[in-house]
Amino acid sequence: MRVSGTPYRTIWPSATNNSVIKIIDQRRLPHRFVIEELRTVAEVCTAIREMHVRGAGLIGATAGFGMHLAALTAPKHEFAAWVRLAAENLVQTRPTASNLAWAVQRQLEAIEQESTLAAKRARAFAVACEIADEDAEFCHRIGEHGKEIIAGISQKKNGKPVNILTHCNAGWLAFVDYGSATSPIYAAHAEGIKVHVWVDETRPWLQGAKLTAWELKEERVPHTLIADNTGGHLMQHGLVDMVIVGTDRTTRCGDVANKIGTYLKALAAHDNNVPFYVALPSSTFDWMIKDGLTEIPIEQRSGKEITHIRGLSESDELTTITISPSNTATLNYGFDVTPARLITGLISERGVMQANEEDILRLYPERRQKPA
Ligand code: MRU
Repeated sequence: MRVSGTPYRTIWPSATNNSVIKIIDQRRLPHRFVIEELRTVAEVCTAIREMHVRGAGLIGATAGFGMHLAALTAPKHEFAAWVRLAAENLVQTRPTASNLAWAVQRQLEAIEQESTLAAKRARAFAVACEIADEDAEFCHRIGEHGKEIIAGISQKKNGKPVNILTHCNAGWLAFVDYGSATSPIYAAHAEGIKVHVWVDETRPWLQGAKLTAWELKEERVPHTLIADNTGGHLMQHGLVDMVIVGTDRTTRCGDVANKIGTYLKALAAHDNNVPFYVALPSSTFDWMIKDGLTEIPIEQRSGKEITHIRGLSESDELTTITISPSNTATLNYGFDVTPARLITGLISERGVMQANEEDILRLYPERRQKPA
């Protein structure tokens, strides 16, 4: 998508040297646009753990490039052990998004198939690029499918703006391009369908206030930033036509883990008959699990994300300030699970499906074989 009119992806290899991977440092947005260079697996792990990059799809793509760097730097005689250790380290950086382990596994299987060192390295780079390109392509297709739903609502409203609420950032910054939840919005907007987005600020990391608001501004999509607790009130007053959120892990039965607070939005939407959609590329399905509540690992992060806040000072400096008494006890869950029964539909690269095993498998018949 665009930054000051120039198209960008969130991750790309240097054009002249594929041992340098470039990312946008998302900790500094929206105030600073900084491109960071990653050269080692350790740097990739730090970038994922400390959220220089974040969002399910982008975490997966970054891990894919991390495996490429591992293959590139692995000494010939310790190649297998080195790559295996890199895979373990990468998988441990963040526990909830399934795209991470998915990308690492895809790389391990591809590297394993090659017999020479040169071929293994070449394959790892090709697969990293493939994962990134596929993520962008799948998100683009999510946009095409989701746009039809927005168009239908727009028609019923005689062309008046469709008010869409979103939580967190499942935009292009959370993927390689386009985003999942935002992709239908961008596609509808590009087609001239009037949309307006309610952007949840998304405490504590503020992905909505910092990232979604920035993206939408860059793409000139009308939007309004709201405090996290506002959505229910808006729904009660008929000011939300639909909700679209992303997901970090989705079970084969349609339970969805997404940024903390998503469940409350789903409850409010259910109570007010507001359609609640979840957009995801298939890399976010965890085909091995059925029950989101008991089987999805929920990341807990530092309490400092709650007690402190980072932003731009009046003197234009990025600053962190404290907002609670010193030593206040905290509990910082990164995600919650929205049960399938609260979800109107899942939008993936293959189309729109109901959030239940049967309908998900209608679009993904190759996954029919049940986990043990
Ligand atoms: O902690 P984050 O920023 O990596 O969380 C990911 C998210 O932004 C959301 O949960 C998002 O809605 C789904 S990721 C595509």
